Amino acid sequence: MPKLFGPTVINTMTLSNRFVRSATWEGMATADGACTPKLTALLVNLAKGGVGLIVTGHAYVRQDGQAGPWQLGVYKDELVPGLQAMTDAVHAGGGKVVMQLNHAGIFADPELAGQAPLAPSRVGGFAGAPPKEMTIKDIDGMVRPFASQREGLRRPGLTASKSTLLTAFFSVSFSHQFSTIVRMNTAELSRIGQELLCKCSRRSGRQ
Ligand SMILES: Cc1cc2nc3c(=O)[nH]c(=O)nc-3n(C[C@H](O)[C@H](O)[C@H](O)COP(=O)(O)O)c2cc1C
Repeated sequence: MPKLFGPTVINTMTLSNRFVRSATWEGMATADGACTPKLTALLVNLAKGGVGLIVTGHAYVRQDGQAGPWQLGVYKDELVPGLQAMTDAVHAGGGKVVMQLNHAGIFADPELAGQAPLAPSRVGGFAGAPPKEMTIKDIDGMVRPFASQREGLRRPGLTASKSTLLTAFFSVSFSHQFSTIVRMNTAELSRIGQELLCKCSRRSGRQ
């Protein structure tokens, strides 16, 4: 199977093979989201074991988007040196690593996040506490944490994205007929995703 074991390229990133470790919350960060030597050792072990690309567990881009304890965070500059050291160690082990940027949205832990979970609508049955329906201002305010954290990651050489919060906007389960989202037209609805993509790709690093 030469394709599976041979090098491959994703945009500007060269991988030694096509094996990818799917994003997995490891619960090995500190209480405030910093990367630890234990988490670094785990990821280096994967790289040395032959995984071409590692996707980190989801990392919260804003404190109100934290889903669980000991989750990796990327919401303040002080967290970057730990991520840089981890990335350098994974590269030295022969692997590449991308960080899964996330805001947990309705699945944020209200105690850790310090407020009610954010959602497109006040839907019940998903969150640990009644969610707050996001306003247009809340939605606009969400672009920057994703885009600026990507910018902060240029040095470490980590890039990736997903968002539980953003995908909720495109789900009928999370947005019902009385919500802000339904009062937006299709162009407005897709604008937050488009803005994010534009800002992130302008600012992202090359490896
Ligand atoms: C313990 C655990 C933690 C996970 N954490 C994440 C995560 O942080 N982000 C994510 O997108 N998926 C997460 N997943 C989902 C996995 O990345 C993967 O998609 C899922 O386990 C299905 O893969 P499989 O079909 O190979 O089992 C997690 C799964 C497990 C079991």
